Amino acid sequence: MIQKVILPVFLAFALSVCVRAQEPEPVNYGAIATYDETAIPRYSIPDFLVSGDGTPITTVKQWEERRADILEMLQKEMYGHMPEHPKDLHFKVGNEDSGAIGGKATRKEVTVFLNADESQSFTMLMYVPNGKTGPVPAFLGLNFQGNHTINDDPGITVFDPEKIDTTRFIGIPERGAASSRWPVERLMDAGYALATVFYEEMTPDIPGHPASGILPFGKDWGNICAWAWGLSCAMDYLVTDPALDPGRIAVVGHSRLGKTSLWAAAMDRRFAMAVSSCSGCCGAAFSRRKIGETLAAVRQNFPQWFTPEFDRYADDENTLPFDQHFLIALIAPRPVYISSAAEDIWADPHGEFLSGKLASPAFVLYGEKGLVTDPDLAEPVSEGYKRVSGYAITNEFNGGTVSGPARDRGNVISDALLFKGFPKADTPLKDGFVGYHVRTGKHDITDWDWEQYISFADSRMK
Ligand code: GCU
Repeated sequence: MIQKVILPVFLAFALSVCVRAQEPEPVNYGAIATYDETAIPRYSIPDFLVSGDGTPITTVKQWEERRADILEMLQKEMYGHMPEHPKDLHFKVGNEDSGAIGGKATRKEVTVFLNADESQSFTMLMYVPNGKTGPVPAFLGLNFQGNHTINDDPGITVFDPEKIDTTRFIGIPERGAASSRWPVERLMDAGYALATVFYEEMTPDIPGHPASGILPFGKDWGNICAWAWGLSCAMDYLVTDPALDPGRIAVVGHSRLGKTSLWAAAMDRRFAMAVSSCSGCCGAAFSRRKIGETLAAVRQNFPQWFTPEFDRYADDENTLPFDQHFLIALIAPRPVYISSAAEDIWADPHGEFLSGKLASPAFVLYGEKGLVTDPDLAEPVSEGYKRVSGYAITNEFNGGTVSGPARDRGNVISDALLFKGFPKADTPLKDGFVGYHVRTGKHDITDWDWEQYISFADSRMK
């Protein structure tokens, strides 16, 4: 009897010692994240400007080939493959009201049908500013709680709870519950249309692939890819709407939906600009910086988001053949705006800045500047970053190319100068084609964030 108890306890203990002994970075292991910059394990920076055979990439032509390979790699290793758009994809416009938002906008709802018998659909809510002479630019983004939550407009159709997997909900959210995240009036005043879809009308955000999801599921795509695909199907409508300028439609998203907007823009080049708010780990943040949320945490908490292949890297980010700056680079030369929140360390603002900065050489290839930092707005490099050495990026970087050790594939580098130029809170960097800000406050998307996206779009999405 005693043996029966002692043996398993002993084995469990021995196993835990072995497991611990294998852990190179116990502080950051798995879902137990650190918030301490000095505890981040050393990491390498993979270089996207080198072809498979080691040739440096110096022309757009070479880059376009390499870009196609990277796109394929990211599909295979992380997001999964998107199917073709359905041949029976079609749209119906309804619930139009030209007196919405105090008369400033025309509201309409577009049902996006994925099949001929109309059994599979999702609803896109749109506001188009009134009184504009020509077609207007637009933002398209997914929302978290239902179209009716983005504004207290009583005319917005509330989703059908029968069609939604409500595991995540306690009742249907109130009208306008998320209106602080969707400044419809500001957008109308600025001359932008807004289109939005409740993300769980596309597929529920719970582990596994329940039958209630209306998007077709291939075996090899995760939810982030599925939502991005849904956005791309929605885009098929937007580019045909005569009220909109098809060449000036941006994709926007917050948090997991910011992860989605970046992937949507990478996959679908019709998106003229991408905005990610607090997209964090597996969005704009550099995966190898193990601070806040880590790949292991994503694997543990959100196994539905990426492919099973991606799970392999969660135990050692340094084995990833890419990092999230590759994703931003895929969007070049289209403008990308990355925003962080100072208190949102879980999403790693420095890591979000870093991906934007390291992606910049792709923009330079097209003759544009990437992330342009401003010494007058920069935070002094903090103590935490001075720790590692041996390698450091010594060359000044300002929307130009990264040269020196950062370009040596696989080198372990110092954080010290990588973060040079990281801006003080609430001082947006908008001079290049990669915009960035870190806003005071929490994980959120606010009116002030939108003000920055709009001014960036005004100057970049031409
Ligand atoms: C969690 C998750 C993040 C995600 C966020 C959100 O915090 O860990 O990866 O971005 O939810 O979507 O709100």
